[in-house]
Amino acid sequence: MNIAIVGAQWGDEGKGKIIDILSKDSDFIVRYQGGNNAGHTVVVGGKRYIFHLIPSAILRSNKTCVIGNGVVVDPKALLEEIEVVRKQRIKVDKTNLKISLNSHIVFPYHRVLDKLREEKGTNKIGTTGRGIGPCYSDKVSRNGIRFADLLNPAVFRLKLKDNLKEKNEIFNKVYHFKTFSFQDIYKEYSGYARQLKEFACDTALLLNKAAKNGKSILFEGAQGTFLDLDFGTYPYVTSSNSISGGLCVGTGVSPDKIDKVIGVVKAYTTRVGEGPFPTEFTSGLMDKIRQKGMEYGATTGRPRRCGWFDAVMVRYAITINGISELAVMKLDVLDNLKTIKICTAYKFKGKVCKDFPLDYEVMQKATPIYEEHPGWQEPIAKVATYRLLPLNARKYIERLEKISGANIRYVSIGSKREDTLLRTK
Ligand code: IMP
Repeated sequence: MNIAIVGAQWGDEGKGKIIDILSKDSDFIVRYQGGNNAGHTVVVGGKRYIFHLIPSAILRSNKTCVIGNGVVVDPKALLEEIEVVRKQRIKVDKTNLKISLNSHIVFPYHRVLDKLREEKGTNKIGTTGRGIGPCYSDKVSRNGIRFADLLNPAVFRLKLKDNLKEKNEIFNKVYHFKTFSFQDIYKEYSGYARQLKEFACDTALLLNKAAKNGKSILFEGAQGTFLDLDFGTYPYVTSSNSISGGLCVGTGVSPDKIDKVIGVVKAYTTRVGEGPFPTEFTSGLMDKIRQKGMEYGATTGRPRRCGWFDAVMVRYAITINGISELAVMKLDVLDNLKTIKICTAYKFKGKVCKDFPLDYEVMQKATPIYEEHPGWQEPIAKVATYRLLPLNARKYIERLEKISGANIRYVSIGSKREDTLLRTK
């Protein structure tokens, strides 16, 4: 069975945990977009691991982890991550990690440009500052440098020279920033090429062969539907297609090979960075939920903005991604609340809209229409099965299911692998 896991909100839904659980029964675990802007946290055996580029399934033996062509790879960050994993005595070598020769490489000038645009531009996105947008821009402009180029010294030399010629002009004239030295980058990145060479692979062929031979593939989406370049709250989005459709382009695996799409949501909503957020808390609840849910970015440590569950968004995400099952994470964070709200629709200029608005003004100014539910007001972290959850907690989940329109199959009540309740009807 080939399964895609996607975020149905603004990222940080807890996909890492569901991926970790499902990877047990998968042979190949594949990243298809994004880069080290992502941060997937998993807690195994009391240890907390945060992965940015390597699929978290690297923690399991006999799995092949793949970084697909749709990913942008910062080799420095990747090598650091490999080292951290190896220090835990976990194997990372060419037998369990494969990197697409077509993936694009993040350079120092991408990182610097990302930061300069945020500091000096007029439209601050609140990016992670990892150079993701500028790297994807180069890919689309057809002057990007791919992993295959990095491995070929003659090609790398030519492409880097070309890039720096144009980019140094921009750094100098537009941003009044120092220019980049060809020699320094060439030397540094040739070193990375030597270290990463063993992982190079035509991952599209590898995955298609695997699918043909009946192996199971788990596609791990990074970020979330509303950070998707096309379907998110543009321009406050990331620069890749994080929806399930993105996996075909980002891996070379065709849509007919995808058996199921699982969407991951929090029992409430969070977002990092700028942009519209209709159900954002305006009261003291912001601090309360942020503290209880430890809502700080896994990549940048920035405090996440928090708000109520938004069914308008999740319904849209279910449609766009073809989600048939949902995992609801962090239900325990709502333990102490007397009442819990769910946004069912928006109101703008007296009109009710039930579908996610594409108009930027509506997105910014719409007010949520809420329904209120009584909280359960008791700790649920130690509950062993779904049926043992307090009645009001089950009623909340059942309401989320009805109003969203996809089966809720997993309910998470804590950070450990074991704290995930399987819901069977
Ligand atoms: P970028 O991907 O660094 O360009 O950032 C663009 C937007 O996506 C910003 O609002 C970031 O906070 C957000 N973003 C990027 N990656 C993640 C993630 O893994 N989780 C949550 N938000 C993210």
